[in-house]
Amino acid sequence: MRLALGLDLGTSGLKAVALDERGRKVAEARAAYPLHTPRPGWTEQDPLDWARAAQEALRALREGLGEAQVVGIGLSGQMHGAVFLDKAGEPLAPAPLWNDQRTAREVAEIEATIPREELIRRTGNPAVTGFQLPKLLWFRNQHPELFRQVYKVLLPKDYLAFALTGAWASEYSDASGVGALNLAEKRWDAEILGALGISEGLFPDLGPSERVVGYLRPEWARETGLPAGLPVVAGAGDNAAAALGLGVSRHRKGVGSVSLGTSGVIFLPLEEPTPEPEGRIHLFAHADGGYHLLGVTLSAAGSLEWLRGLFPEVSLEALLREAEQAPLGGEGLFFLPFLAGERSPYLSPHLRGAFLGLSLAHRRGHLVRAVLEGVALSLGEVYRVMRPLAEAQRLLATGGGAASDLWLSLLGGALGVPVARVSGD
Ligand code: XUL
Repeated sequence: MRLALGLDLGTSGLKAVALDERGRKVAEARAAYPLHTPRPGWTEQDPLDWARAAQEALRALREGLGEAQVVGIGLSGQMHGAVFLDKAGEPLAPAPLWNDQRTAREVAEIEATIPREELIRRTGNPAVTGFQLPKLLWFRNQHPELFRQVYKVLLPKDYLAFALTGAWASEYSDASGVGALNLAEKRWDAEILGALGISEGLFPDLGPSERVVGYLRPEWARETGLPAGLPVVAGAGDNAAAALGLGVSRHRKGVGSVSLGTSGVIFLPLEEPTPEPEGRIHLFAHADGGYHLLGVTLSAAGSLEWLRGLFPEVSLEALLREAEQAPLGGEGLFFLPFLAGERSPYLSPHLRGAFLGLSLAHRRGHLVRAVLEGVALSLGEVYRVMRPLAEAQRLLATGGGAASDLWLSLLGGALGVPVARVSGD
């Protein structure tokens, strides 16, 4: 049997899978690492933890595969993080992640240097606190000594590619979440970087998702039991990779996806890099050679998880049954899901959540229903801004929250688009 391996570098852990020639998963291994929040609004991980986890998961996977022949490794992972590396490839600092909010000042610095409309026209997006470029400026502002030692800045999964092969390489889908990729031309935007005084040479070499970026180093072969010289493929940012797995691509008109994970994400493929004029929805390169819109409600299943945490004695299933008993509209109770600020369409780290319309008549089930409805309506608001650019006839639903029939039907109602659950993994 010939197998391809995939590594997904998530925020809570790394997953390694082995797929057969028909794309079916035949084995899986996981390894975890900590998430550090040293200050409010900061999220960081240690790149060396990622490399250790990759080694551990690959070793466990290989051990379970017997005689099967492994033909290559592909990568996907959390977007937007910044791994600052010196010339020897050693991390100079912990990596701030996609949901880190420390860069408000640098976002203002970028937009004071390059007008927002110009940024949107070139990169598809305004400056966003979570993106990689403001993190690089933050590093320069806060740690000038260390910044001088930066030889390359890599995205999280590209750091894994470097650890596996020694290559400094990226691909368009993840690179478009840096904030410095000229989307139409698929190259680092030398004018933007020049205006900010950042050298283009700090960024890795670019290519398509399917490019082989390098070959497994002998020391990794020794540690994992895989053959040295195994090809490693660039892969894609996690959203683009997941969409490709669902068959969501410009080759299948009108089909998009919606994920009800910790955050809620609407993904719609596009043929051309046409930005939302005000940049309220992200525009990135897709792994299929085209482009896609990405709308994000930051606290989706995360909001439900927060509410559940307030009632530790009750199971999630029981809470959802109580929500079913409450009437649509929760008898005047509304919930705003901005528990961690909001991305789309407001792009504000300062927004906060709320229950509105509470009365003595409201019970726990009303609160749960209000959360489900509030998240669905928030994604409805996201889709309202996306629709003029890419209309969906059908959305494929994934993520833990998609297991709830009630939530899916509320989502379909709020979006005005049929939403179908996708089974299996
Ligand atoms: C997308 C985004 C997240 C991360 C997390 O813009 O920030 O989906 O990729 O995995």
